[in-house]
This record gives sequence, C-alpha cells and structure tokens, in this order.
Amino acid sequence: MDERTNNSGLEEALEIQSLRRIISAYLNYAAAAEEDVHRYERSFHKLPPSHKALLPHYLYKCRRLRWCISENGYVILNMLQAFEPPIDMTRNLETGENEPPVSICTTLNEGSCSTDGESTRLNQTSLKKANIEASSMGNFRDSDTRIHTATCSCSSACGACDDKTKVFGCQTYAYSVSEANGKGDCPTFDWWDPSFQLNVPLVDVDKVRCIIRNIVRDWAPEGQRERDQCYRPILEELDRLFPTRRKDRPPSCLVPGAGLGRLALEISCLGFISQGNEFSYYMMICSSFILNHTQRQREWTIYPWIHSNCNSLSDRDQLRPVEFPDIHPASAGITDGFSMCGGDFVEVYGDQSQEGSWDTVVTCFFIDTAHNVVEYIEIISRILRDGGVWINLGPLLYHFADSYGSEDEMSVELSLEDVKRIAFQYGFELEIERTIETTYTANPRSMMQNHYFAAFWTMRKKIQSRSQLHQ
Ligand SMILES: C[S@@+](CC[C@H](N)C(=O)[O-])C[C@H]1O[C@@H](n2cnc3c(N)ncnc32)[C@H](O)[C@@H]1O
Repeated sequence: MDERTNNSGLEEALEIQSLRRIISAYLNYAAAAEEDVHRYERSFHKLPPSHKALLPHYLYKCRRLRWCISENGYVILNMLQAFEPPIDMTRNLETGENEPPVSICTTLNEGSCSTDGESTRLNQTSLKKANIEASSMGNFRDSDTRIHTATCSCSSACGACDDKTKVFGCQTYAYSVSEANGKGDCPTFDWWDPSFQLNVPLVDVDKVRCIIRNIVRDWAPEGQRERDQCYRPILEELDRLFPTRRKDRPPSCLVPGAGLGRLALEISCLGFISQGNEFSYYMMICSSFILNHTQRQREWTIYPWIHSNCNSLSDRDQLRPVEFPDIHPASAGITDGFSMCGGDFVEVYGDQSQEGSWDTVVTCFFIDTAHNVVEYIEIISRILRDGGVWINLGPLLYHFADSYGSEDEMSVELSLEDVKRIAFQYGFELEIERTIETTYTANPRSMMQNHYFAAFWTMRKKIQSRSQLHQ
C-alpha cells in the first residue's frame, strides 16, 4: 500500500469519525435536554413547601418540556433517517473493513442512489440533475479527499458551524435539487444502533440546538421577519442588478456559507442558477432534509425555544410550537441547476477551475467565518467574472476571534474599513453601501434580543483593461 493510499485511508477514517460524532450529537439531543429538565425538577424539590405551593404548575411545565423534547427528537430522527452519508459509515474504524449495513430501507427507487463513484468537483457535469432527493449526496466521493479540520470556537452568530470537528474538507459533496420530489430511496441506517451512539461533549449537542434555531430563521413562518431583514435586501438587489435575466440563460450565483439553504433557494426562484456552499455536516444534514425530503408545507413541528427558561414572557411562549417549512421547497419554483455543495469555501472555490465562473457571489453572515478574511475576498474576486457583483450582508463577529483552544488558531480580524480597502485592492468598486439592523436566529418573543448593525454592500469587480490582464 503506497503512502497516498495510506493517507487517504486515514483521512477517510477521520472523516467517518467526525461524522459519527455529529450524528451522535444529534442522537444525544434528547437525553441532554432531558437532563436539563431533571435539573429544573431538582431545583424545584429544594424549595420550601410554602414556595412550592406558589408554583403548582411548575412540575406540569417540566412534563410538557419532556413532551416537546420528544417531539423535537422525532423530527431529528426523521432527519437522520433521510440522511445519506457521503462516506461509507459502515467501515469499521479499527480494522478498516466494512461492516454489513445496519439496515436497508425498502423503498428503493431506480437510479437515485447509485454509488457510481463519480468525482464531485464543482462545475463538473457530474453535478447531475438528480430528482429532488439528496440522494446524490451519497454518490459524490471525491477520489482526492483531503481532510480539513474546522476548529472555530463559539463566538459566532452561528454556533452550529463552530464544529471543532472536521466537516467536509475539500471533499465536495453535492446535491442538486429539482422540482421532482420523491421519497427517500437510499439505504438508511439504524442510527439508534449503539455503534452509532458515542458520548459527545455537551457543546456538540448545543450545535444541534443552534440548528433548530436556524430552522426557524430559514424555514418557519416565525423567521419571516429575520428573512425580510437579511434576505430581502439581497434579493431586491439581485433583481435590480440583473433586470434582463433570461430563463433560457440564467445568471449564476454562489452563496458561500449557505446555512440551511433558504437564501440560495430564494435566489434560485428569482431566476438564477444558484449554488449554496456549506461546510458543516450539522447544516447539511438538516438542509438536505428540508430541501429534499419535505413533502408539504408545515409538515413538521418543533419546539425551538424550550431550551432556555430565561427571558420568557410566559411558559406558553417558551413552549410554543413552530411549524416548518413555511413553503414546500420542491414547489417553490426553482430554476434548473439549483445545488448545494458541501466543502470548505476556500478549498473548493480556491481551485483554479473556478476562476471567472460566477456572475454573482452573495455572502450573508459569512465573511466573518474566515480565519483570514483577505483570503475570502481574494477568492470571491477571483471566481467572479469581470463585471460580476458581490453582495454582502453581515457583521464582523469573527468566528475565531475568541478561540482560546490549545491550538494557536489563526484569526485575522479586520475592521469594516480595512475589509473594504482590501476589497478595493482586489479590484472591487463599491456601488451601494448601507447598514441593516437585524437579528440572527433570535426568539422574536424573548425579552432579550441581540441586534446587529450589519454592513450591506454591493461591489462590482472592475473590468480589467488588457494591460492589467498582462501584468
Ligand atoms: C453565521 S452562519 C450564516 C448562514 C446563512 N448564510 C444565514 O444567513 O443564515 C455561517 C455559515 O457559514 C458556514 N461556513 C463557515 N465557514 C465556512 C467555510 N469555510 N466554507 C463553507 N461554509 C462555511 C457555517 O457552517 C455556517 O452555516
């Protein structure tokens, strides 16, 4: 066995390990939440009888919390069952040999779950137009999978991306979405099998809670206000900038850090070939479920706000259900070519093949996820065609700014002024700039709301003169 084979074996093993950890975090969600409820009960039992008597509903609320947790757990289980891992999860990490699959789903549809081993570099024709199944997620293995360890710490707007575990690396993992919806038709795993359940730190389970909040932001009626604050200005800007876009030749738009995919979907519906890029399995497991496996509007109910007793106006507010998705993605009117591509933005789009490929890049709450924001700007500039536009909305809450981990995490934290100056150096011209006040995954009924005064801009990549091109 040569060194390369050895390395890729090791990388794959690490990939499996980290995906198992993420799946375990999902699986541990309910137990961790139950533990919190135990704690509330223990505190209640420590009260003197006279105080207990004033709170006759307290234990009832705990029972209700338990019920909500189990409902959330049910949604999570469905999400996991719909998930088709892009790697062979049956591989025994110790021996390197394959174990028999734990269970195979019986509803096999033709064609949608072939493991044809196609490589999945972006822009390849192998980003095939599967039906709306995320099935292709499982099909795409990059033969040259490299491992990248994402180790940001949790200071960001989005806790779920702060994995401290490996996410996709440069293994691109893509699924196309089309209007032809279908039922899950790939082998599914019995995630409840003990071999899939590791004990993970609570911080991992917290990321699952973040995902639940992200569901509200992107896919619930309650998230509409936040979507109006963040996504609407971007969509209006795209509409203004491409007034003559044609259905037969739609402009292309890349959305790095696409989260749960709503913005990318809206851009697709606006008449763009839209591609979301996301490197967190936490996010991809959930976005694939919503985009590819929901059958109708408001199919699912979650209880997103149960995990905090703080700043509630009432128990009813805290325990309120939230239905999702507010729209049925498959019926939303997407433009052909809508896809989600898993992988680290830098690794996937830093590739030479991406140069000048995009008419527009949209970053929403993304640029501060960088270790090196200059690198992000450089890549955005490089992948845009001349005259292409970059629309950005977000704060500069640098994700790695507070990572006091043992590793010396690189984090270059620039002011807005510097970020813009760097963009100008990379050939951008500012066309529009303003500040947008917004929240991020906020509970609209909470007594505490964090507001961002986010930067919003449109920059255009200057058309280079011939002499510049030859420099
Ligand atoms: C703060 S969230 C914003 C998500 C979405 N744009 C929104 O507005 O809801 C940042 C997202 O970027 C993703 N992300 C962070 N670094 C990334 C990278 N290097 N490549 C791809 N995605 C990344 C995270 O996993 C997370 O989903």
